[in-house]
Amino acid sequence: MKAWKVIPDAEKLNLQQQDLNLGNPADGEVRVRIRATSLNKRDLMVANDTYPGIKEGGLVPLSDGAGEIIAVGNNVDSLTPGDRVANLFWRDWMDGTASPDGVAMGGAIDGVLADEVILPAHSLVKIPDFLSYEEAATLPCAALTAWNALMETGNLKPGQTVLTLGTGGVSLFALQFAKAAGAKVIITSSSEEKLSRAKEMGADIGINYRETPNWAEEVLRLTDGKGADVIIETGGPGTLNQSLQAASYNGEVTMIGVQAGIGDNISPLPILFKKLRLQGIMVGSRKMFENMLAQMTKHEIRPVVDQVFSFDDTPKAFATMQAASHFGKIAIVN
Ligand SMILES: NC(=O)c1ccc[n+]([C@@H]2O[C@H](COP(=O)([O-])OP(=O)(O)OC[C@H]3O[C@@H](n4cnc5c(N)ncnc54)[C@H](OP(=O)(O)O)[C@@H]3O)[C@@H](O)[C@H]2O)c1
Repeated sequence: MKAWKVIPDAEKLNLQQQDLNLGNPADGEVRVRIRATSLNKRDLMVANDTYPGIKEGGLVPLSDGAGEIIAVGNNVDSLTPGDRVANLFWRDWMDGTASPDGVAMGGAIDGVLADEVILPAHSLVKIPDFLSYEEAATLPCAALTAWNALMETGNLKPGQTVLTLGTGGVSLFALQFAKAAGAKVIITSSSEEKLSRAKEMGADIGINYRETPNWAEEVLRLTDGKGADVIIETGGPGTLNQSLQAASYNGEVTMIGVQAGIGDNISPLPILFKKLRLQGIMVGSRKMFENMLAQMTKHEIRPVVDQVFSFDDTPKAFATMQAASHFGKIAIVN
């Protein structure tokens, strides 16, 4: 079985292809032939040695994959060979708000950048027929995070306004889920071309955060002073003050990423005066994944796969992610 292994290194990308011996699936486990995987910002952070809680001595990276069941161990009723599946980011988080106990794919444990993996059957969900493997491989982290932020935690209602930052994986899924839920979407980007593409996908308003550095004022102006009801906060401290400013009264700011660096000191005043809720999101559970797939099937929501690389070209996929020129997701096919 072929796999890529990453040795976290602050100086250079240290990826090595290796032959590993997998063995057979034990009780409750299945063997998956991985057909496609996708990259998230976190995978770069793992490779750059800036992500906490990583398996010692290097690991098989990537949290997101899709493939086909090729063998099942004893006591597996839910899956059979030939089933098309995607894996969970949190291997064991099934439902509820309980802490997912740290077993994150491609972080605390090996991930899916391999041609085959063995996983517990409970950590795999069947994927709908209309999605290709490379589309399904984009769902476990970015899509589920956006879904959780908007629909599970954010409790988004039709007619509300969503503000989502940037045009990376999480933000474009947020755009798609928000439109399917009947919301208005404001999206920001550093690129006019990306804003045009986002508008073609249904975004109502695009704001270039480079040309309009005080974009929160623009959000307020364009919403008649009301602001956004739910904010997909992928920027972190570098954008949070403006997100708080752009939020409506009783708005929900979902804290997702730290894309925009360490940034300014955060003023708590808008949180108090506007009675905002700030909620951290850490991807989502199996139950949320199933809810998301039901909605994606109902509306035939297809992930935006911007670029696809071969398994052997994995280092190029990482370099492309690092360059941040992508729009949506970067996938690798096996
Ligand atoms: N908490 C969780 O569960 C969770 C899950 C997934 C991801 N995350 C985090 O969420 C963030 C986004 O993840 P991703 O996978 O979507 O990343 P990604 O695909 O790499 O998205 C990168 C995009 O972020 C945008 N960006 C960069 N700086 C920005 C700024 N100052 N203001 C607004 N947008 C900015 C850029 O959009 P433009 O090119 O359009 O300017 C860039 O293309 C990352 O920090 C990631 O670690 C967290």
